[in-house]
Amino acid sequence: MKKITLNALHAKKHPKEGNPASKISAITAYDALFASIFDPIIDFILVGDSLNMSFNGKPDTLSANMDLMLYHTQAVCQGAKRAFIVADMPYGSYITEKQAVKNALRFYQESLADAVKLEGGVKKAPIIKALVSEGVAVIGHVGLLPQSVRGVGGYKIVGKSAQSAQKVLEDALSVQEAGASLVVLEGVVANVAQEISAKLEIPTIGIGSGAGCDGQILVFSDMLGLFTAFKPKFVRTYLDGAGLIQEALKRYVADIQAGHFPSADESY
Ligand code: KIV
Repeated sequence: MKKITLNALHAKKHPKEGNPASKISAITAYDALFASIFDPIIDFILVGDSLNMSFNGKPDTLSANMDLMLYHTQAVCQGAKRAFIVADMPYGSYITEKQAVKNALRFYQESLADAVKLEGGVKKAPIIKALVSEGVAVIGHVGLLPQSVRGVGGYKIVGKSAQSAQKVLEDALSVQEAGASLVVLEGVVANVAQEISAKLEIPTIGIGSGAGCDGQILVFSDMLGLFTAFKPKFVRTYLDGAGLIQEALKRYVADIQAGHFPSADESY
């Protein structure tokens, strides 16, 4: 299996002559088991700090820290050998250039992550520049920023007004200008995300930002129906994961009660 590189991801947006452009498919993963299942099929795996919510049951992503993100990134790198792997820099880990470089280098030195992702546009451009100048591949993240959710008082869709649309465009352009390799557009009104995708050289990966982006990402526990506490409008559930698992567990419990498990074949 050929490893997916940044060049391969860029070639999907800018194919060589004669080849059609194609979309980038991305999903989150937090452990080796799921990463190994996703790896043969998906282009890009994000070890997102969303794991703090969907995996660890916390109300938001803010309490995820470097040790937690490194642990999960190492696990994902153990399970996925083909997909491009991106480690999310947690809240508070990239405030100054020096601190951001130190933390980003930990991902490279202590795991096999291919790139790091960080949230923020114009204001975070100097941080992105500092990382890129140290040889770190950076994925930007603009629009709705989950790490700012407490500060701005909720999850708010971006680009509804002309002013908000202009700001997210400027954020995306400055992230590109700073040297980011790709950019996630989260919670951006579809026509604004499409316009940004057309203006940017680097690929855009949308989540809740319509079909005009150069790729799409979903949190795996949402799209597999494993996380059922709530379902945002943009999520498409491809499997009733929780329902199927509970059905299997009920059959297992019934077999134990009836003395049908284990059978003679399953015993020594
Ligand atoms: O943490 C995460 O999973 C993310 C995606 C929602 C893009 O940042």
